[in-house]
Amino acid sequence: MCGIVGYIGPKSVESVLLVGLQKLEYRGYDSAGMAVLGDGEIATRKAVGKIAELQKLLKNQPMFGTVGIGHSRWATHGEPSTVNAHPHLNKQHTIAVVHNGVFENYAKLRSELTDDGYVFLSETDTEVAPHLMDKYLEEGFSPEEAFARMLRRLDGQYALAVIAEKANQKIFFARKGSPLIVARGKSEYLLSSDIPAVVPICEDAIYLENGEWGYVSPEGVTIFNAAGDIVTPKWEPITVSIEDVDKGEFEYLMLKEIYEQPDVFERIFKERLDETFIHFPELKFGKEYLARVGRILIQACGTSLNAGMIGRIYIEQFSRISTETDYSSEWRYRNPLTSGDSLVVGISQSGETADTLAGIREAKAKFMRVLSFLNNVNSTMARESDALINLMAGPEIGVASTKAFTAQVANLLLFSLYVGSIKWLIPSEERAKILSELRMVPDMMRKILKNHDSIKKIAAFLKDKNDTIFLGRTYNYPSALEGALKLKEISYIHASGYAGGEFKHGPLALVSENVPVVIIAPKGEIRTKMISNLKEAQARKGKIISIITEGDEEIKKESDFYFEIPECDESISPLLVAVPLQLLAYYTAIERGCDVDRPRNLAKAVTVE
Ligand code: M6R
Repeated sequence: MCGIVGYIGPKSVESVLLVGLQKLEYRGYDSAGMAVLGDGEIATRKAVGKIAELQKLLKNQPMFGTVGIGHSRWATHGEPSTVNAHPHLNKQHTIAVVHNGVFENYAKLRSELTDDGYVFLSETDTEVAPHLMDKYLEEGFSPEEAFARMLRRLDGQYALAVIAEKANQKIFFARKGSPLIVARGKSEYLLSSDIPAVVPICEDAIYLENGEWGYVSPEGVTIFNAAGDIVTPKWEPITVSIEDVDKGEFEYLMLKEIYEQPDVFERIFKERLDETFIHFPELKFGKEYLARVGRILIQACGTSLNAGMIGRIYIEQFSRISTETDYSSEWRYRNPLTSGDSLVVGISQSGETADTLAGIREAKAKFMRVLSFLNNVNSTMARESDALINLMAGPEIGVASTKAFTAQVANLLLFSLYVGSIKWLIPSEERAKILSELRMVPDMMRKILKNHDSIKKIAAFLKDKNDTIFLGRTYNYPSALEGALKLKEISYIHASGYAGGEFKHGPLALVSENVPVVIIAPKGEIRTKMISNLKEAQARKGKIISIITEGDEEIKKESDFYFEIPECDESISPLLVAVPLQLLAYYTAIERGCDVDRPRNLAKAVTVE
């Protein structure tokens, strides 16, 4: 939520910041702005809406200089407006601040600064920062000391970048809770909330730890820890490529990421599978410990929780470990019961989601071990978990999670088989059978993707509806939740997912000829039960969209629309079912003229509670 960038170097500051903000736009697009220090003075430009608006403004009012900071905003305190847009300034416009996060004590600071004569223009919490820094500069402290004093006054979680006229060739930065990276190219430095902004020009980066702060200048980077001691920078090579973060030939990043799924699966299998067994080289927990785990508590948010719900079934079935799932935001507040053999599992694409992170911290405060399934292995969750499993989906930038979801499900399945095998619960022939089917998933996904035109027809029908119901059972009950989440998130059609068995206990009342029902009914144990749901909906004039196994003539005949997936074991079906559901949401959103990669009111990484 909110993206910040900073640049110092020989290139056009305006251009580098603009490209950086475009790459971070997934973090928020309520407004954008930048401040550039040139000829000893700070100039700012701000625009409400997407980065394209700022770009238009810059065309008419370009900026020149060698140092600058930029921001894309996801509004928390104060509506999206120019006055609330970052950077925020002191009265004389000699200090500019961009901020991601929340200053929890801003009300107290604001009233203290108002008493001192400072005038606030915006409703944001951020504006206290330039005034505080101004106050310490006025008191005679050096810019470095003023910045450090300002940090000591700020509570909450944040990532900050600051420029000041008195520190002509410096960008100050600090990280407490929200991510921040310092990256370097050729005689140049970039600050950024995330890797995509630095990929075009940088070769290596420092992932700042919580509490670290400092400044970049043409001479290099100076970093201090929270205690004020100098820290030796730990540079790590950037392994992400421009192609990974660019939408290439695709109209939207979401579509590109949907199409990347077969390759993601091939990558996962290459790393994790050999002829007979499963490997998690990065997993720090030993086999003995995993064999002794008596209870697993999965906590995650949104799509990651939906994946976790499928994972729960895998873990109970293949590892025979009692497993619960809950929203992170609920789990941490319900005083969860702990026991020595409990393992808390966090699942997150970004590794920065505030609710999931708080859940991890709650678990650790209760002395429970934490294993996280993460796509961003340089994230805060990666640092704070006892062990991690790398999802290996590659950078996911589209706000609607797609390839990270299927990578989560695949890694959870492999993990459950791994633990089950350690415990000698799964005969090797059974494991070999599942693994050999899994290896076919990439080609099965490719086949589904080739058939995208039939999804377009369903989308054309769905585009005028106001409500849609998704039904599934066992492995595909979470698929129904995920299908509904995808549709509402990017097309703004109200959609709810239910367990098929629960349909008649209430949701059936919603069905009418205007409320279509998506029936997820691949071949398997629950298929006939799903046919009962189909009949129940049909009897109330509900239009039926079914996701079925190839050649299921019986359900085809009963459906208004259907989409076929290749035949597979029921346990693997959520991986295949996910793809048409993602495409359905995508093409419906396109039909409705929605901006798929920038759904209203949302942001990719939700770093506030
Ligand atoms: O980064 P995380 O996986 O922790 O994010 C959790 C949710 O915010 C995320 O899955 C959200 O629900 C997606 N936008 C859904 O597509």
